[in-house]
Amino acid sequence: MVNIMEANTITKNPGTAVLEDRAQAGTQETAERIPVFKTNNFNLWYGDNHALQDINLRFNQNEVSAIIGPSGCGKSTFVKALNRMVELVPIVRTEGEILYRDQDIFNRKMTVEELRTKVGMVFQKPNPFPKSIYDNVAYGPRVHGIRKKKVLDEVVEKSLRDAAIWDEVKDRLNENAYGLSGGQQQRICIARALATEPDVILMDEPTSALDPISTTKVEDLMHELKKNYSIIVVTHNMQQAARVSDTTAFFYQGYVVEHDDTKVIFGNPRDQRTEDYVSGRFG
Ligand SMILES: Nc1ncnc2c1ncn2[C@@H]1O[C@H](COP(=O)(O)OP(=O)(O)O)[C@@H](O)[C@H]1O
Ligand SMILES: [Mg+2]
Repeated sequence: MVNIMEANTITKNPGTAVLEDRAQAGTQETAERIPVFKTNNFNLWYGDNHALQDINLRFNQNEVSAIIGPSGCGKSTFVKALNRMVELVPIVRTEGEILYRDQDIFNRKMTVEELRTKVGMVFQKPNPFPKSIYDNVAYGPRVHGIRKKKVLDEVVEKSLRDAAIWDEVKDRLNENAYGLSGGQQQRICIARALATEPDVILMDEPTSALDPISTTKVEDLMHELKKNYSIIVVTHNMQQAARVSDTTAFFYQGYVVEHDDTKVIFGNPRDQRTEDYVSGRFG
């Protein structure tokens, strides 16, 4: 419970401080937590709408980091800022820093292409290209200049295996991806993201258009993928965040109320608003 005095003094981002404190404490467990993304007082406006306010977050390597919060609180805007996709909206203005592996993503030294090669994205609605399954997955590598069939074959197979869909599609790689079920299409999109060998995979409500069985498959997949990648996933499904993630950030009206280990956010949050949200009192 948070009393009124405490509530008044709550900073907008207490959870981040907790993670930093623990990291600095240098225990065995936290010493291994290597950040892939850090944001320092990141702000974003759509015209006059201050959609993201002083975001200070840190996401670690080989973890699933969940972002939760009510509709319109800035979750999609935030993940699209991480790979600079949000800048496609002309009225967007940003302030503050986003560091990817300690490099400022807005610095001229890092090109958008470089960033998006390292930071892949999977969207809410499966969006395969109207091409064959093979060509969907080979798309990124081809853009990067890979032409040899043998190399492409290997990349396609590995990506489809890693996306846990190889067995379902290996005999029909030349069929159009549109012929697959929604759940299969989403795993094709994950394979397509994996084919360029990203470091971080952003997922914006990747299962919200899927049936429960496909959802379970994608959740299991996230668990597998974090061994080799880092995943930042937006979800409006609280059970999903609790099941799949290592840390959870609770966004509310454009700022971060609390960010901490998922078991703390769901078991013992510091902020009354987090508790109300995760217990379903508002949504
Ligand atoms: N392309 C856009 N142009 C203008 N405003 C936008 C755009 N996308 C989102 N917004 C605004 O930014 C805020 C956050 O939206 P969004 O990031 O989509 O939230 P969430 O993903 O949490 O539902 C909302 O006020 C929304 O209206
Ligand atoms: Mg959204």
